[in-house]
Amino acid sequence: MEDIDWTKLGFKYLDADYNVRCYYRNGEWGELEISSLNQINIHMAATSLHYGQEAFEGLKAFKGKDGKIRIFRMDENAKRMQDSAGGILMANIPVDKFMDAVRKAVTMNKRFVPPYDSGAALYIRPLLIGTGPQIGVNPAEEYLFLVFVMPVGPYFPEGFKPTDLVIMREFDRAAPQGTGKYKVGGNYAASMYEGKKAKEGGFSAVLYLDSKEKKYIDECGPANFFGIKNNTYITPLSDSILPSITNKSLIVLAKEMGLKIERRKVPYEELAEFDEVGACGTAAVISPIKGVYDNDNDKWFKYGDEPGKWSTKLYNKIRAIQYGDEPDTHGWVEIIE
Ligand code: PLP
Ligand code: COI
Repeated sequence: MEDIDWTKLGFKYLDADYNVRCYYRNGEWGELEISSLNQINIHMAATSLHYGQEAFEGLKAFKGKDGKIRIFRMDENAKRMQDSAGGILMANIPVDKFMDAVRKAVTMNKRFVPPYDSGAALYIRPLLIGTGPQIGVNPAEEYLFLVFVMPVGPYFPEGFKPTDLVIMREFDRAAPQGTGKYKVGGNYAASMYEGKKAKEGGFSAVLYLDSKEKKYIDECGPANFFGIKNNTYITPLSDSILPSITNKSLIVLAKEMGLKIERRKVPYEELAEFDEVGACGTAAVISPIKGVYDNDNDKWFKYGDEPGKWSTKLYNKIRAIQYGDEPDTHGWVEIIE
């Protein structure tokens, strides 16, 4: 702990002091429990291990100049975990229990919230897993909900410096009517192979096209995609991407800045028309994109080596709200102390 260099944090696992656990047994959730162990003990036939019955969330807490800790939009993460649970037939964690567990996990690990001037944040990882045994493909009867935290820096090591994406049509992340809209582990397992290939090629992530027709832009690795042109913020409408809370927030902020908003199918060809392109998400915040390489057609779309005007404004604005530098006029932030 004493040797954490807050300014050099990447997006890596680190042990904090405590995590919060809650068990679902005999048809009901128990009380929140505090643990200082980083291991769990579950049945070898647990459905999470065999059949991928698991969902997770990702949110952040920030320390302001005033020393107060702010958690960003955790009610939205709570609701999304309910959607994910519903999508793969897991016991639903009530929104209040989810939020209490997050508050507890942050409060008990306050010393891991990075200082204001480091630009880092506390990453909060709620997890819901089927723990009960099944050997047929059926939902478990027992579940564990768990919240752990760790200090993190930027997800892409470049931070707010633009990086490149790659399109590789031979890979799909999710089926058109599958589980892409849920935050379930299977989607991430499905993206690892091509994600590694992309990194080996010098790209920060895969830009997926829609799985059915390969005509429209879909998900952007572990983040949503947006493009800006003609004073318009454009982001894909798709049933197979995660409804990003960052994107939802950026849409509100972009509108307030005077941008028009379009949430619609975004044809691949439009990549040639954008002035700015970015990936957005809790971990990625806004990661500006300098180029998209179409690996199948050996074709580049370029957006400049520096972050664009609107991406920079949006990045500064969302960070200012998260760190408490600007008033939280939307009620997005909960102050912890
Ligand atoms: N898309 C995927 C696949 C993700 O894993 C994430 C990260 O949570 C996002 C988008 C961004 O969502 P959010 O802004 O809610 O973090
Ligand atoms: C997030 O942005 O919180 C994510 O979950 C992305 C990735 C770490 C899976």
